Amino acid sequence: MNEIISASTSRREFLKNTGRFAAASALAGATIPYVHAAGSDALQVALIGCGGRGSGAAANALSVRRGPIKLVAMADVFPDRLQNSFDNLKKQFPSQVDVPQDRQFIGFDAYQKAMDCLKPGDIAIFATPLAFRWVHFTYAIQKGLNVFMEKPLTADGPTSRKMLQLAEEATAKNLKVGVGLMSRHSRALQELAQRLHDGEIGDIVLLRGYRMHGPVGSAFSEKWPGQPSELLWQIKHFHSFIWASGGCYSDFYIHIIDHLGWMKNAWPVKAQALGGRHYRQSPDGQIYVDQNFDVYAVEYTFADGTKFNLDGRCMTGCNDIYASYIHGTKGFAIASKSGDCGQPSSTYKGLAPKRADLIWESKVNRDEQDPYENEWNDLVGAIRDDKPYNEVKRGVEASLVTSMGRMAAHTGQEVTFDDMLNCEHDMAPSVDKLTMDSPAPLVANAEGRYPVPMPGITTKREY
Ligand SMILES: NC(=O)c1ccc[n+]([C@@H]2O[C@H](COP(=O)([O-])OP(=O)(O)OC[C@H]3O[C@@H](n4cnc5c(N)ncnc54)[C@H](O)[C@@H]3O)[C@@H](O)[C@H]2O)c1
Repeated sequence: MNEIISASTSRREFLKNTGRFAAASALAGATIPYVHAAGSDALQVALIGCGGRGSGAAANALSVRRGPIKLVAMADVFPDRLQNSFDNLKKQFPSQVDVPQDRQFIGFDAYQKAMDCLKPGDIAIFATPLAFRWVHFTYAIQKGLNVFMEKPLTADGPTSRKMLQLAEEATAKNLKVGVGLMSRHSRALQELAQRLHDGEIGDIVLLRGYRMHGPVGSAFSEKWPGQPSELLWQIKHFHSFIWASGGCYSDFYIHIIDHLGWMKNAWPVKAQALGGRHYRQSPDGQIYVDQNFDVYAVEYTFADGTKFNLDGRCMTGCNDIYASYIHGTKGFAIASKSGDCGQPSSTYKGLAPKRADLIWESKVNRDEQDPYENEWNDLVGAIRDDKPYNEVKRGVEASLVTSMGRMAAHTGQEVTFDDMLNCEHDMAPSVDKLTMDSPAPLVANAEGRYPVPMPGITTKREY
C-alpha cells in the first residue's frame, strides 16, 4: 500500500516528496529497442534509480513548461522501488507515463536497457547513489543522450578525474547535462549572487554554513542482517558508506558548500577540520557499523585567505541549525534562511540581520518558487533552444570541495583541492562490473563492523 500518495495528496506535495515507498511486486526485464515519438517533438525520459529523489525528479520532468515529454523506461536494482515509483507517477501523470513491463528493468545492467529505449536527444535521469554516476554517464554519452544527474557526483579523486573527462566528452557532443544542485536554480540565490558579486555587502570576509539536526536517511546503520546481499544492503543504506555516497558529509552538506562557494565566486583551496563520533550505538544498545562521524566542523580557506566554516551534526537533542550566512566588509547576507536553499535570501547593513538594516529581501514569482522545478525548466529550455548547458564540471568541483572537507575531518590533516583531486584512493573501483551476486565493495569483519576513519592514524586515505 502506498504510504505517500493518497487521492487527496496534491501534485505539489508529491513533487516535494523525497519519498518512502512500501509496496512490492516483481517485474519483467526484456530489452526493447528505441521508442520513437513519431511525428512529434516529444522528449522521452528514462528514470534510473527509482527512489525518493528519482521519483521526484521524474515528476519535475513531466511537469516542465516546454513539453511534450513522456517517461518511457525505468531501471532499479530493487523491483519494489521501481513498482512503487511507477504506481505513484502513473497516478499523477497518467497520460505521460508510458512504461509497460517490458520497459521496466531490474539489475545492475538495467541502466543500459532503459537508455536503449531512448533515442539520441532524449533525457536519462540518474538518481542512484553517486557511486554509479560515471558508469551511467559513460553509457549516456555513447548513446547521445541528454542527462539530469543527482548530486553529489563523486566521492573520491579517481572518479572525479573520470567525471571531468566525461564532462568534456559530453560538451563535445553538444549534450545538455543538468546536475541536481538545485540551489543554483533558486531565483532568490541567483539574485543574491549577483548582488554580492556587485559588492552590495562589500568584500566577502567570512562564510558560515550549518546543517545540524538528528540522524536522517541511512546515516547510521546497525549490522547487516544477512539479507538482502551485503552489496544490496549497502546500496539501500548508502548514506552509511563512503564508497556509495561520500557518507552523510557529502550527501547532506554539499548544497550549502556549493552555494556558499558560488556566493564567494570561487572554490576553497584547502580545508582543515575537526570531527568525531560520540555515539556508536543506538539508544537501545544496538551497535552502529556505518562509516560516518556524528559531528563535523570544517574550516575551508579560499585563495585570498577568506574563511568558510561548515558545521554538520547528526545528533538528537541538540541545537538544530540549517542555514547559511555571509559576512562582508559592509554588511551581512542570509543565503538560505532555512534548509538547503530556503527563501527569502536577504542583505543587511552592519553585522546582524536587523530588520531596520535590511537592504534587500528576495521576492520570487509564484511560478518560479521551486528550484527543483526551475532546474528542469532550465534544462529542457536549453535542450529545446539548443543552448550550451553542462553543469557537470561545476558539480564535480562542488563534490571535490565537499570531499576535501570530509577527508580533512576523517584524516585529521590539512587537505587541499589538488590533494583531493589527485588522491589515488578509488573507493569502488569495479562498480561498473557489479552483478547481483558480487561482493560489496566493503566487506564487514567478523564482528560485522566496517572500517571507520581514524584521524591522526589513517592519514593518507579515509579508511
Ligand atoms: N537534490 C536534492 O535535494 C536531493 C534530495 C534527495 C536525494 N538526492 C540525491 O539523489 C540520489 C538518490 O537519493 P534518494 O534519496 O532518492 O535515495 P533512494 O534510496 O530513495 O533512491 C535510490 C534508488 O536508486 C536505486 N539504485 C541503487 N543503485 C542502483 C543501480 N546501480 N542501478 C539502478 N538503480 C539503483 C535504489 O534501489 C533506489 O531505488 C542521491 O545521490 C542523493 O544524494 C538529492
